[in-house]
Amino acid sequence: MPLVKMKPVLLEAMEQGYAVAAFNLLDFSTTKAMIKAAEELEAPVIVQVSAKTIKYFSHKEVYNWVATVAEDSPVPVVLHLDHCKDLNVIQKCIDTGWTSVMIDASELPFEENHALSLQVVQMAAKKGIHIEAELGQIMGVEDDMDVEEHDHLTDPADAERFCKDLDLAAFACAIGSAHGYYKGEPKIAFDLIKQINSRTHVPMALHGGTGLPEDTIAQCIAAGCAKINISTNLKHVFIESFLDYNKAKPTDFEPLRYIDAQYQACKELFKSKIAEFGGTGRAAQVLKIAA
Ligand code: 13P
Repeated sequence: MPLVKMKPVLLEAMEQGYAVAAFNLLDFSTTKAMIKAAEELEAPVIVQVSAKTIKYFSHKEVYNWVATVAEDSPVPVVLHLDHCKDLNVIQKCIDTGWTSVMIDASELPFEENHALSLQVVQMAAKKGIHIEAELGQIMGVEDDMDVEEHDHLTDPADAERFCKDLDLAAFACAIGSAHGYYKGEPKIAFDLIKQINSRTHVPMALHGGTGLPEDTIAQCIAAGCAKINISTNLKHVFIESFLDYNKAKPTDFEPLRYIDAQYQACKELFKSKIAEFGGTGRAAQVLKIAA
């Protein structure tokens, strides 16, 4: 089926108390694996991509991979641009057919961040799509952004003021999570998630999903996170599954068997995360409102 927009998918998840898994694709095979994983579990899925990956391939290639696999799939698939501050990349995603984009201007002061986010809201509105924006910087390394450890969490009043006129599909903010593996024990401010959600009424995107224990994820979802991002975990499985195959079969030089071992390992990761976030069996209901 055609790609679906992100906003109705996340509003449904927020209402029903689960989260939609969002994975950062790396190539065609990982794209296919995430959509097939969603199919096997009859779940919605967000296929997202970093600006760095788009720059390595191209808008057209990435769009074609996702649209082609989604077209033959019965489950709802969103194509989303992850953290991006380059308006040219964002505009081209909108023009090419992305069904959601993120502007990350969180490094700027509040007013500038809000103004730039509003500009992207207006760009996206021309194609009838909504956006994800960020207030308060999420720690860790993502793409070319490296945010040092800090303890400044997003203020609920600021969050309300920020979201008020943006009509966001998803809101990202600093609630204690971090991109990459956690150095110590993750300290998520569950109560803050609740406070922010009660003031914004916007589905919250939990960044830094890699390395969060299951009970932490469950509490984040219970507090109101409706989109959970996984990237680092996939990067590791992608590389390790390839290397492990070579270790196990050092004399095998048939590339398709390597590619398949990698594909299967990535698909298992996607299935386990979709199930953990509560997405299993949700596709049909989502399609009633999002298709
Ligand atoms: P991880 O790399 O920690 O999984 O975070 C992914 C993310 O939030 C992408 O925006």
